[in-house]
Amino acid sequence: MVTVHIKDIQYQYHDGTHALHNACLDIVKGELLAILGPNGSGKTTLLKHLNGLFKPISGEIVLDQKPLSHYSSREIFQKVGMVFQDPNDQLFAPTVWEDVAFGPMNLDLSKSEIIHRVDEALAIVNMGKYTGKTVDALSFGQKKRVCVAGVLAMRPEILVLDEPTCGLDPVGVTSLMTLLKELQDKYGITIIMATHNVDLVPLYMDRLAIMYQGSVLRAGTPEYVFSNIDEIRSACLELPQIAQLMQVLRDKDNIPMDSLPLTVGEAREFLVQKFHNQLTANLQR
Ligand SMILES: Nc1ncnc2c1ncn2[C@@H]1O[C@H](COP(=O)(O)OP(=O)(O)OP(=O)(O)O)[C@@H](O)[C@H]1O
Ligand SMILES: [Mg+2]
Repeated sequence: MVTVHIKDIQYQYHDGTHALHNACLDIVKGELLAILGPNGSGKTTLLKHLNGLFKPISGEIVLDQKPLSHYSSREIFQKVGMVFQDPNDQLFAPTVWEDVAFGPMNLDLSKSEIIHRVDEALAIVNMGKYTGKTVDALSFGQKKRVCVAGVLAMRPEILVLDEPTCGLDPVGVTSLMTLLKELQDKYGITIIMATHNVDLVPLYMDRLAIMYQGSVLRAGTPEYVFSNIDEIRSACLELPQIAQLMQVLRDKDNIPMDSLPLTVGEAREFLVQKFHNQLTANLQR
């Protein structure tokens, strides 16, 4: 079921930059969707439309069958949580606990419900030990986690993240992606994230959308989108590294493949099968 329907939206900044051109995208309820595109292709601009921060100059965004323009800001903030690319643009309260509590405090909840939500959100992102810590004294990755907690405490149905893995170490990337996958699986949250990390896509994402010069060129499963290599290159993107290797083996070394393996696991399975078939053929000779 489609939860967000982005219909032909256009957006222009005050200086005249036309950042979105007839962008169209359907977001499916409960999916983990990546938005990929080179610098300046309009990812951040598009994401900022999803929580009503930006309004399109034409076109429409429909959220659960109702135009976004018919929702109050309060309703949108409760339904759609947004994690900005730079945590320093998001965090402002003196301590971790106060920062995460800010959203729920504005929802007319009881004090005990606020305490419950904040503690729960901090526990989910594994930051429960840092409740009293000054926000300025956190590492970059810890700040990102606190931003996610701040949004989770609002119990959103849709979580929008702008390059959430940027600036994290490899373990941090894996743990953040595992966390997002858990939020999707356990709580059914729909997750949309802009990323430059193409290797993550076939590992974690249900679908991806490719943006180029303010438009969505294509959206679909990783297998579908990455099968069109010319389009990926013309959008100034690359295949995942493993897929690049497998593509060279297929196209330069003439190793036939039904479909291009995109992950280490898929490539391993293909190669083991290939060696196994080769070995069996040699033994039978
Ligand atoms: N505040 C602004 N004022 C004017 N133009 C802007 C503003 N912010 C972005 N733009 C322009 O809008 C276009 C889309 O920018 P956007 O930030 O959405 O791209 P992006 O895909 O998120 O890029 P990146 O990968 O670098 O984050 C770019 O041409 C950019 O220069
Ligand atoms: Mg951006």
